[in-house]
Amino acid sequence: MDKIQIKGGCRLGGDVFISGAKNAALPLIASSILVDGQTVFTNVPRLMDINSIKLLLEDLGAVCEFDDHTLSVDGRGINKIEAEYDLVRKMRASILVLGPLVARFGHAKVSMPGGCAIGARPVNMHLTGLEAMGAEITIEHGYIEAKTTGPRLTGNEIYFDIPTVTGTENLMMAAVLAKGETVLRNAAREPEIVCLAEALNKMGARISGAGTAIITIEGVDKLNPVEVRVIPDRIETGTFMAAAAATGGDVMIRGCIPDHIGGIISKLRGTGTEVEVFEDSVRVRGGASIKSVDIKTLPYPGFPTDMQAQFMALMAIADGNAVIHESIFENRFIHANELLRMGADISISNGNYAMVRGVKKLQGAPVMASDLRASASLVIAGLVAEGTTLISRVYHMDRGYEAIEEKFSALGADILRIKS
Ligand code: EPZ
Repeated sequence: MDKIQIKGGCRLGGDVFISGAKNAALPLIASSILVDGQTVFTNVPRLMDINSIKLLLEDLGAVCEFDDHTLSVDGRGINKIEAEYDLVRKMRASILVLGPLVARFGHAKVSMPGGCAIGARPVNMHLTGLEAMGAEITIEHGYIEAKTTGPRLTGNEIYFDIPTVTGTENLMMAAVLAKGETVLRNAAREPEIVCLAEALNKMGARISGAGTAIITIEGVDKLNPVEVRVIPDRIETGTFMAAAAATGGDVMIRGCIPDHIGGIISKLRGTGTEVEVFEDSVRVRGGASIKSVDIKTLPYPGFPTDMQAQFMALMAIADGNAVIHESIFENRFIHANELLRMGADISISNGNYAMVRGVKKLQGAPVMASDLRASASLVIAGLVAEGTTLISRVYHMDRGYEAIEEKFSALGADILRIKS
């Protein structure tokens, strides 16, 4: 397994270009199951997770071609409604094929996605939503089986107990070919959901309200093939912003959508970091010192849980004490233990509060990545630590960050991948 070695102490400087968003691309690619023809996705990031969903669609019978950052998917040949355990276990977001398969075939079998390091990650809201649309759900031998009782799903009112991103996406895709109208209430409002709704409408769907808590979908009979561009990754953007702030650097982050990172900008400015906003880029200049700022992770447009680990690395070298409240996932502080090994001063109380007492310096150390965003947190810590940091299990990072070491070294970081 590859490792990443970082020698700390550099101030990042220069330009970095943001890739397409993994969490926008995955539901978009799943939506090609609904389309009668070849759908073309551009600005698709080259990531392990994209490869995983491509393999899953090919296993179902789709024809896929991934050239540079363009992925085309022809779903017409799909002749299988079962998403195998071996493929689903590699990536939880495979659950996103469930809604489209039931919508198109009236029947689907998808392996229960396991939990992951950050939490149990249940999918109960996905399933109760499908039941409300007339699907019979059974769970046997680790597989979810969904079967419509009538010829196809029927629109209904669905109320989410809490906003769920992939739950909203799955049920939106299930509803586009259903009979009648579906209303999703307390829906998630993430930009990735708006991106998906806009793509589905371009294909001929009739969706309104995406980006708000109430999404209405009028079922149609057919979706037509189109070309769709994946939006930039707001979490990759935030990750480079946090790294620029932590190293006291001066970085221009290009090809992003500032409107999607309002919560991150506001918190970074609170730390004394200078953030200049342009139409499709932000310039981040680290201040002389880093002020400690409390954060609470919330559904969009609140401060994103996917930025919590990166922000904790920044707070680890801030000039005071910061309280980090992780309100979305039950076990998303695993990176704290690794930061402690680097000399951070962090204490966790009742599972989802972390008190981060800023220290003058972190020390480089051998550390282990536990999940996608934790790995980004360890890169930021390595960039500011004294000495060398060696991060193992970087396959976690390869799932969601494209060419991460190339991008950081282009900004002046002393970072290299040790293949093994
Ligand atoms: C999406 O996961 C993202 N993944 C996650 O990004 C992100 O952290 C998360 O949304 C929250 O923003 C993708 O988009 C592929 P949720 P998702 O359903 O949809 C509970 C990354 O690093 N819940 O919004 O799985 C759940 O346990 C990943 O890129 C239920 O209880 O998250 C959590 O506490 C990590 N029942 C909360 O809701 C359900 O049926 C929000 O989860 C569904 C969710």
